[in-house]
Amino acid sequence: MYRTLKGKHFITLRDWTNIEIDMALEVAADLKRRFYMDEPTPLLQYKTIALMFFEASTRTRNSMEMGIAQLGGHANYLDTSTMQISHGESAKDTGIILSSFGHGIACRHCVWGEGNAYITEMAKHASRPVLSLQCDLYHPMQGLADLMTIKEVKKETKGLNVSIIWAYATSHKKPISVPLTQALLFPRYGMNVTLAHPKGFELPDWVIEEAKANAEKYHGSFRVIDDMDEAFRGADIVIPKNWGSWSGKVPNVSIEDFKHWKCTEEKMSLASPEVCYMHALPADRGNEVDDSVIDGVHSIVYQEAENRLHTAKAVMALTL
Ligand code: CP
Repeated sequence: MYRTLKGKHFITLRDWTNIEIDMALEVAADLKRRFYMDEPTPLLQYKTIALMFFEASTRTRNSMEMGIAQLGGHANYLDTSTMQISHGESAKDTGIILSSFGHGIACRHCVWGEGNAYITEMAKHASRPVLSLQCDLYHPMQGLADLMTIKEVKKETKGLNVSIIWAYATSHKKPISVPLTQALLFPRYGMNVTLAHPKGFELPDWVIEEAKANAEKYHGSFRVIDDMDEAFRGADIVIPKNWGSWSGKVPNVSIEDFKHWKCTEEKMSLASPEVCYMHALPADRGNEVDDSVIDGVHSIVYQEAENRLHTAKAVMALTL
């Protein structure tokens, strides 16, 4: 069964069935246990992967590099500004060449309207699996680690009230790929998902339609609201995080008008007493969230970040 994933691309979790996702989570849990026990896990001995990054990364790069080393293989880190891509070499040629040198290609490319198309084009021509490390639409590695973390902490996902909440930030215009991935994935596990944001920060219509269809199929629910307090009320999990306006249709108001979209202790007090605070990181402390929340007892952000390692290892072990 596990061998069926050999050679499979990992570009969006939409292409992975729940059975396949559960398999990856099972392998990730096993690898986590063996990591803690200092047990060798040479599942990818002598195998290599090219890691292409168009943008900066801390968690993704290191979970992949350290992850494959712990599996007995090697990752070749590639800053794309130093590759011939910078002189116009095509995704097709890059995909064919890099896949002929090793056992897989992984790529982060978040430029709106380009990233997913680039990774998909490489995958079309590569002879080895292509793994997305985040594009303009999806962040499947993050989605998998988030799901693993929720299952570890809450055990049962059915009926869990999860709120994906837009938050104010000044750091940079963050992609929509994290909330989009969560909005599509969590209803597939029976969660009651609330997506909350001010006007102008909508996710694409097709995402809302698919999230609702997933909720119906898997007996969860999905709603979109523009009231931050309502999103916190009774939530078991809150994920307040900034994302940019992909549509450019932000009302003619200053971003400063949304400064109150911040995760504070007051907001957390509206949620379930056992609420967990999650964030893919990096967080814009003081803007998206108060230190007292992200460093507080409800925060599971470091467990969530650590699970990026175990899930990345699982995806590589299964696909490469
Ligand atoms: N969450 C996440 O993808 O982190 P990095 O941008 O540091 O990889």
